[in-house]
Amino acid sequence: MSNAVMRLTLAIFGTGLLLPLVAQAAPGLASGKAAFQQKCSACHSDVAGKNGVGPSLFGVYGRAAATAPGYTYSAALKASGLTWTPANLSAWLDKPSALVPRNKMGVAPLLKLDEKANLIAYLKSAH
Ligand code: HEC
Repeated sequence: MSNAVMRLTLAIFGTGLLLPLVAQAAPGLASGKAAFQQKCSACHSDVAGKNGVGPSLFGVYGRAAATAPGYTYSAALKASGLTWTPANLSAWLDKPSALVPRNKMGVAPLLKLDEKANLIAYLKSAH
């Protein structure tokens, strides 16, 4: 095979391999946003500083728990010492009261597995 043909072959295969990866990233975020709107937005906004029944979740990914400005958290969440890593977010979304007893988020949001992953990806993007 000549060098030119080799490069062309690589370029075609390279694009073929990359495109599905790029295409996959977007739907995850889109369905994460949809899940956020359906299951979280009654109590949470994704806009900085806009608190409701729950604190704004803008920038929550990777942040220390109970630190959104201007929101009055439960004593339990303030004392938790948690950081919102993917693992902690996942445990919180499964059952908030198991991760932090006596917090005030009430019931678990009842998410499907893929919904939870997409939602965490969406929270990561909301910075
Ligand atoms: C019925 C209202 C309600 C719903 C629905 C709800 N939350 Fe909450 N959430 C709260 C409240 C209230 C708190 C504050 C808890 C505390 O102070 O103990 C909270 C806290 C949180 C925190 C911790 C924030 C911080 O700054 O430490 C995260 C993360 C969170 N919620 C994620 C979610 C996600 C994601 C959803 C949707 C799947 C959701 N919540 C649905 C009421 C709700």
